[in-house]
Amino acid sequence: MEGTIVNKKKLYRLVTVSKRYEIGEDKVIALNKVNLEIEHKGFLFLFGPSGSGKSTLLHILGGLDTPTSGEVIFEGKDIAKFSQKQKAGFRKKNIGFVFQFFNLIPSLTALENVLVSRMFEKEVSDVYARQLLDEVGLGGRIKHLPHQLSGGERQRVAIARALVNNPEVLLADEPTGNLDRKATYEVMELFKKFNQKGKTIIVVTHDNSLLDYGNVVVNISDGRIVK
Ligand SMILES: Nc1ncnc2c1ncn2[C@@H]1O[C@H](COP(=O)(O)OP(=O)(O)OP(=O)(O)O)[C@@H](O)[C@H]1O
Ligand SMILES: [Mg+2]
Repeated sequence: MEGTIVNKKKLYRLVTVSKRYEIGEDKVIALNKVNLEIEHKGFLFLFGPSGSGKSTLLHILGGLDTPTSGEVIFEGKDIAKFSQKQKAGFRKKNIGFVFQFFNLIPSLTALENVLVSRMFEKEVSDVYARQLLDEVGLGGRIKHLPHQLSGGERQRVAIARALVNNPEVLLADEPTGNLDRKATYEVMELFKKFNQKGKTIIVVTHDNSLLDYGNVVVNISDGRIVK
């Protein structure tokens, strides 16, 4: 029956999610009544032109930002209604973030950057952090500082860092925006690998040459999802 398909549990279910900004007299509708369902363990792209609302949507999925209205159901709970503290807990447990400019701490080595959110459990996670750096091909670079790494290598450190709490979801905002083609494809291959290992991957891009890596492309234009 169709009903059983419709009722299949989703990882995310967004219902009429809007985000409005008001600066003085100016109003910006960054997201306009977005409805979206995201499957467990998918590889999804948020694709659209500059200013279309991609980052806004990604931040809402990650609990970094709250919509003005609408529901953001994650595994049955509306994270839009969470307090700041609940959102922090939600992020720590479920989400890894990867950004365009890597956001590594310049004075920390690759290994220390991966461990930065787990400082209080160092002994436990040291082994895991080394294993993650191995998995992103940087087992030989663990003592390097960010400025001693190439852009592609920095982004791979950032991916290892995003995975250190073993989150269900990896969210990436233009992760290849600052990389050349070779490093871009290396990053995409890593996302593919971690997706095959069971992570849900959600990537913001306006590079249409990457879309084949995903199994879903969500087209965003002017704050709306377009088919
Ligand atoms: N904090 C804010 N205050 C006011 N307006 C904002 C704010 N953040 C985003 N906007 C506006 O919301 C719209 C969507 O922005 P968003 O950053 O989500 O776009 P984007 O698709 O990620 O663009 P890009 O590809 O350039 O990164 C834009 O018109 C932007 O100017
Ligand atoms: Mg953006």
